Amino acid sequence: MQGIPQPGRTEVLQLPRVHISRHPVMAHKMTLLRNKETPTSQFYRLVKEIGSLIAYEATAGLALREKTIETPLEQMQGYKLAGGIGITPILRAGLGLAEGFREVLHDVQIWHLGLRRDERTLQALEYYNRLPHKVDLQICYAVDPMLATGGSAIDAVNILKAKGIKRISFVCIIAAPYGLLKLSEAHPDIDIYIAALDERLNDQGYIVPGLGDAGDRQFGTF
Ligand code: URA
Repeated sequence: MQGIPQPGRTEVLQLPRVHISRHPVMAHKMTLLRNKETPTSQFYRLVKEIGSLIAYEATAGLALREKTIETPLEQMQGYKLAGGIGITPILRAGLGLAEGFREVLHDVQIWHLGLRRDERTLQALEYYNRLPHKVDLQICYAVDPMLATGGSAIDAVNILKAKGIKRISFVCIIAAPYGLLKLSEAHPDIDIYIAALDERLNDQGYIVPGLGDAGDRQFGTF
């Protein structure tokens, strides 16, 4: 990111479809997650727990359908979620977040997506794609813990849109202002849920203060 101007936090706080968690339990778990002393096993568990917390926030606007049931006492009008829910973990770092979502929403489709950038053409290369042929969802959540430059996030949303998904949200743990702005500009029609907004990207493209490499820290590949 050397020489590339980056927006500050205040410049992106006003973006209309960005939702930043204000939950105190989230702030507590985020501090544990960021700490370099946190071992891999705890790190992975925290990513899943944070995934579950953010899933509650990101699903608050889901559509419902009425459903009549019998309680042990009488009949009543309840609800069920209207339509299927998809989760697209961007490999490999998105896997822990997807598991956290699954703890909250059991009945989901997991659409794995492996993306890599061709450094020459800057085009997205899919090295893995398990999106189904039949698409019938009310929403798909693309999940990746770190929104750094925004490249993979933009590519993933492009792929989901090309598949015919009408409603998409992007979910991450930490965003840099640069990536957040790029994703919002490329896809102004999606909601973006984040647990924390950090300061900037360093010259190597890492989010600062961040948490390091989210994939390595989840899977112990240092
Ligand atoms: N990906 C990571 O895992 N960490 C960062 O800080 C940026 C991108």
